Amino acid sequence: MAQDPMLPRRYRVKRAWSELSDVSTMELEPIDGEAVPFAPGQFNMLYAFGVGEVAISISGDAADTDKLVHTIRNVGAISGALAGVSDGDVIGVRGPFGSAWPVAQETGRHIVFVAGGLGLAPLRPAIYHVLNNREQYSGMTLVYGARSPDDLLYADEIKAWKSRFDTEVEITVDHAAPGWTGQVGVVTVPLDRTLSGSNGAEVSAFVCGPEIMMRFSVMSLMAAGVPEDKVWISMERNMKCAIGFCGHCQFGGDFICRDGPVFRHDQVSRLIAKKEI
Ligand SMILES: Cc1cc2nc3c(=O)[nH]c(=O)nc-3n(C[C@H](O)[C@H](O)[C@H](O)COP(=O)(O)OP(=O)(O)OC[C@H]3O[C@@H](n4cnc5c(N)ncnc54)[C@H](O)[C@@H]3O)c2cc1C
Ligand code: FES
Repeated sequence: MAQDPMLPRRYRVKRAWSELSDVSTMELEPIDGEAVPFAPGQFNMLYAFGVGEVAISISGDAADTDKLVHTIRNVGAISGALAGVSDGDVIGVRGPFGSAWPVAQETGRHIVFVAGGLGLAPLRPAIYHVLNNREQYSGMTLVYGARSPDDLLYADEIKAWKSRFDTEVEITVDHAAPGWTGQVGVVTVPLDRTLSGSNGAEVSAFVCGPEIMMRFSVMSLMAAGVPEDKVWISMERNMKCAIGFCGHCQFGGDFICRDGPVFRHDQVSRLIAKKEI
């Protein structure tokens, strides 16, 4: 019998660790039965028992079916409880829900990932997919921006990606700190530079971060000749049911939980231009 999508399953925290001062990552395993497969870009509803439930993107490798990985910023009561879990704790999981980054369909193209802040977490499964199948793509670039060097997520992993000869990685921070020798400035500066050396028509772009950052990144991509139907973004809204029932996450005529969170840009560009939606 199919699992009731409103019923959380119990998962045990295999391992939890701190990424940044207010961000933690947890690896989960189901207490009963198999882990459910997911596609890059999808999210789960994570339930801190007695506190509440929130939407959190899956940030691990979809090819590694042994564990479920989530990266969480403590911004309130529920995310704080989840970011504070320890090894062996038990939480509830519903999902996976929502649409995916269609990265597996974009073979033969130059894949450009543009991430801002915690937006790297929902993109990471798609990045793993391209790195695991790198020979199927003509190029791969990651442009990642954070507020400061201390806010750079997955710093060791980024270093490893940067050391690969088949991958271009550009990191920038809004505000430097003592010892920082890298780039300073908004993400569109390295993005524009990367795009000026590429053929925009061959680029497929996946963008995730604060809405203002996504808006300016899309403008850069369009100006470089990237086709509008080759740009995908991920949207966030408060969620309750995650199955297209309660209407909490309505976005124009769409529900973000069901029709998103990943949208092709040309299908939502008119809505994004209207700030109040
Ligand atoms: C599809 C999707 C994927 C997400 N993936 C992640 C993820 O991988 N990691 C992660 O840390 N967070 C993620 N979030 C955001 C996360 O769901 C919210 O931070 C969480 O709901 C906050 O709940 P809270 O009760 O802890 O805080 P609250 O007390 O509810 O809120 C604290 C602050 O966060 C703001 N906030 C609440 N919910 C959201 C939201 N959905 N988007 C933006 N701001 C919000 C509130 O306006 C308030 O300012 C995702 C959200 C969605 C919809
Ligand atoms: S969260 Fe209920 S409709 Fe999307």
